[in-house]
Amino acid sequence: MSGGEACGASDYGENIAGDYDAFVGLHAPVDPVVEFLHSLVGGVGPALELGGGTGRVAIPLGERGVAVHAPEVSPAMCRELVNKDVQRLVRPVVADMSEFSLDIEFGLIYTVFNSFLFLTSRRAQARCLAAVARHLRADGTFVIEIAIPDFHLNPSLSRVSLTRSADGSPMMDIATIDPVAQLIEANHLLFGPDGIRVVPLTMRYVSLSELDLMAESAGLLLTERCSGWDGSPVTRYSVSAVSVYQPAQGVGSTR
Ligand SMILES: C[S@@+](CC[C@H](N)C(=O)[O-])C[C@H]1O[C@@H](n2cnc3c(N)ncnc32)[C@H](O)[C@@H]1O
Repeated sequence: MSGGEACGASDYGENIAGDYDAFVGLHAPVDPVVEFLHSLVGGVGPALELGGGTGRVAIPLGERGVAVHAPEVSPAMCRELVNKDVQRLVRPVVADMSEFSLDIEFGLIYTVFNSFLFLTSRRAQARCLAAVARHLRADGTFVIEIAIPDFHLNPSLSRVSLTRSADGSPMMDIATIDPVAQLIEANHLLFGPDGIRVVPLTMRYVSLSELDLMAESAGLLLTERCSGWDGSPVTRYSVSAVSVYQPAQGVGSTR
């Protein structure tokens, strides 16, 4: 961890690992994500997932024959991944995604389900993108899925929302927003058979143009953007975006 810039993230993983799949992780369909990523990695990889969690995406991608490495800040999330991954398809490593250093170049690096936003300062996010650029092959691809900030729709600095977890139990999110630091400080309230569990988390939201600027500073150029894994276009109503970047050098050489 570096100067508290990723501490919300690490706490999150440690607090939720055992419940993640039941309450959160299996909420979002995984097949279209795996399909999209598999089409980019070109067969066997290797690929790198930043903030791989319990292997929701990395394990099915591994089942397609791709060797996936997964830096993940939370030892508890890594343990869950290892327990699920009986075929040892994924190589988890306890590491901060803003500071990782591996002796491998990847054809595909990806981070999904808002993991990137768990880096709670602009500096940490920029460092992460610089690390991505260092680990990406010249012809490689970086894919990032993040929520699009929607505070223009609801400018309130606090929010309460009710959803259902993957297993059908009610789930409540209570959040406050700091528009200066671009921080969402939230608590997931998980209603389970043993009572209510509170899981705190902090995320730093970014606009898509800020993301593009940070990526460009790291030497990564936007090549494609869609609103979901089916490739549908981003519109003013989109709630999240999947952005695809390539090293500036690689984009230049294919033109
Ligand atoms: C919302 S979960 C997503 C997990 C997984 N990608 C998925 O799609 O299910 C966010 C993950 O990012 C991890 N994470 C947060 N900050 C991190 C950091 N600085 N470095 C590496 N992993 C981090 C958390 O521990 C958690 O496992």
